[in-house]
Amino acid sequence: MKNTIKVMFVFGTRPEAIKMAPIIKAMAKNNHFQEIVVVTGQHREMLDQALNDFKIVPDYDLNLMKNEQSLSSITIDVIQTLDGILDNDRPDIVLVHGDTATTFAASVSAFYHKITIGHVEAGLRTWHKYSPFPEEMNRQLTDTLADLYFAPTIQSQENLLLEHHNREHIFVTGNTAIDALNYTVHKEYNHSVLDKIEKGHRIIMLTMHRRENQENGLESVFSAVKNVIKQYEDIEVIFPVHLSPHVQEVAHRYFDDVDKVHLLPPLNTVDFQNIAARSFFIMTDSGGVQEEAPSLGKPVLVLRDNTERPEGVAAGTLKLIGTQSDNVQKNMRLLLDDKNVYQQMASAKNPYGDGKASEKILDIIYHHFQ
Ligand code: UD1
Ligand code: UDP
Repeated sequence: MKNTIKVMFVFGTRPEAIKMAPIIKAMAKNNHFQEIVVVTGQHREMLDQALNDFKIVPDYDLNLMKNEQSLSSITIDVIQTLDGILDNDRPDIVLVHGDTATTFAASVSAFYHKITIGHVEAGLRTWHKYSPFPEEMNRQLTDTLADLYFAPTIQSQENLLLEHHNREHIFVTGNTAIDALNYTVHKEYNHSVLDKIEKGHRIIMLTMHRRENQENGLESVFSAVKNVIKQYEDIEVIFPVHLSPHVQEVAHRYFDDVDKVHLLPPLNTVDFQNIAARSFFIMTDSGGVQEEAPSLGKPVLVLRDNTERPEGVAAGTLKLIGTQSDNVQKNMRLLLDDKNVYQQMASAKNPYGDGKASEKILDIIYHHFQ
């Protein structure tokens, strides 16, 4: 029987940090484990915000982010830089999360070192190679290499079984995004941007960053938002803008001169989730936000043509509306005008677990190594 199990977390972007944080916190309190946190720094400022929020100090920070980084450069840099760390530290298991370039590259690295790979948030699928791009293939390739699968839902477990992964190594745990919400969302909360919202006005929370939306999607959605807010006295938009230079450029070009749209730098996690909890509805192409919204009881207009989070659509919280301007406007008006439609979406049940996914993951790893 092993004394302590050496678990290496490797992640690099904001959403990975937020959803790994509850597992790291739980492990730190459990003396069966020795945890080593490696951040690739694929994101810099946005990753640091999340690390600060959850008070996580990495053991290794590879600090790899470059301006206008390409997918190949992140992938190559992560694989090369992890080599020495995996050689030196020889963890029992490497834990990766989700579907980013860091996730895929860290899995390849662990595979080259013949180290067990645990994939948190395994089994999400759209089955469209280029949508979302490159995330769909990042998660399929990661699941090809993984040994332990922490599937958030039964649907994601079924996806893994369809690909003939080992049934005995697939576990339905819930999504750690829900565990994270328990740390962040409070009844008593305020933020300077909320003070700027006129009393009685309804807040729409907007985020957009996906690579496949950068060609036309951003402009099409932003023009829709601009049109709709002209027609309603009582709505204001809070839009924390992702630091991707292209997203920044388009967002500022469209909204800098629009009073009712509050453009902000990326919010830290506590601020984002508490403001989202006080919004009327959310418009987003984010993956993580789709998981959080059902727990917050907020309708979401998903600015994508498909989603790997169909559970939220089935539950009724999420509506896939794509990015076509007329359709975006139509769906915004529907939520703003029709109380029944709004209520139905706002009162759906959270399908992503009970907030105890991290404890389940610890338990599974512990038993795997005994
Ligand atoms: C990445 C992930 C995506 C995830 C998203 C979460 C890949 C291929 N994509 O996309 O799956 O949904 O993170 O937000 O892994 N930048 C900064 N500061 C930051 C973060 C980013 O300046 O704190 C800049 C980078 O220099 C880069 C650009 O933003 O040029 C895009 O970052 P990148 O990590 O390449 O892709 P994302 O669109 O953030
Ligand atoms: N988020 C945040 N600040 C923001 C916007 C989002 O902390 O300004 C959080 C959000 O609550 C969710 C995660 O970031 O947990 C989603 O990250 P993102 O949309 O960047 O990536 P995705 O989930 O699409 O991969």
